[in-house]
Amino acid sequence: MAKVSIKDVARKAGVSISTVSRVLTSSAPVSEELKKKVEEAVQELGYSPSMLARSLRHGRTKTIGFILPDISNPFFVQIVRGAEDYLWEHGYTLIFGSSDQNRKKEDTILNTLLSKHIDGLLFTGTGESNPKLLRSIQHGLNVVFLDRLIKDVNVSYVVVDNFKGITMLVDYLVDTGHRNFIFINGDKNTFSAKQRHDAFISKMREYGLQHEHHYASFSYDAGYEFGKNITKSLPDAILCGNDLIAFGLLDALEEKGVRIPDDVSVTGYDDIPFSKYYKPALTTVHQPTYEMGKTAAEILLKLINGEMTTIEGIVLEPELVVRESTRRK
Ligand code: RIB
Repeated sequence: MAKVSIKDVARKAGVSISTVSRVLTSSAPVSEELKKKVEEAVQELGYSPSMLARSLRHGRTKTIGFILPDISNPFFVQIVRGAEDYLWEHGYTLIFGSSDQNRKKEDTILNTLLSKHIDGLLFTGTGESNPKLLRSIQHGLNVVFLDRLIKDVNVSYVVVDNFKGITMLVDYLVDTGHRNFIFINGDKNTFSAKQRHDAFISKMREYGLQHEHHYASFSYDAGYEFGKNITKSLPDAILCGNDLIAFGLLDALEEKGVRIPDDVSVTGYDDIPFSKYYKPALTTVHQPTYEMGKTAAEILLKLINGEMTTIEGIVLEPELVVRESTRRK
């Protein structure tokens, strides 16, 4: 009997794949009318979710899905590069989608990848990800998180030690005479922004220093807007949740005639390739992105090939990179 796919059910019921997935996983409210249509289609076609899981288990398509939050950010491009190189060397093709930090788009891409019968999934969530949907998938599909963990979804992961990264940065700034700080952080629901927030607050309390923390978004515009609107006197240092925020801040402050680092030191996070060429070159925290992508792909193939059955968590080391955007106070 030909395999019935989730796509066949959607077509029969006259609904989207994501609606079928929501009905089958009860992961989000669906109208009674649509629910009835899906259930009738499932009955008539004799489809069962386990059929999807079985085809994922045995019907190897040699494809891997990867959903990440923002493909325009060089940080994620480097991660994809590391994963894709490893997978290609081992006979797998990578299909990725950018959720653009949008939960709805993330769900749609997820359901589309499932309909392609991928053999495994690499996942960096928006921060609003649907844990119920992810938990339902992990029982039929091998999943590895990169860079950002999701509460209550226990799968293997590869992250970089955010606490160590912020601790090294703050220790360096304090050692070079900085005594008051502003932190412009990334998207508040993301694991990485929360960890950096917690590390920053912990260090400020340890040293007893004056500080402000603001959640924004991991984007150039967030830094530019903040820099454009800053009116009060500048702190000794402004820390940014990632390099893109720092680039926007540097440009806005330069337009206002602020001298970096003489008037204020500025730091980033990630060490994307442009950071060393920015004017001034950016002091930042290096994240081993290529290695993160490669390591996650390696773990995923071990899971798919049954060489590993336990949950494995890898925490990679960050590195402080001091450049021109900071100086001794
Ligand atoms: O630049 C994007 C940021 O979000 C990075 O710092 C990375 O850790 C991701 O979580």
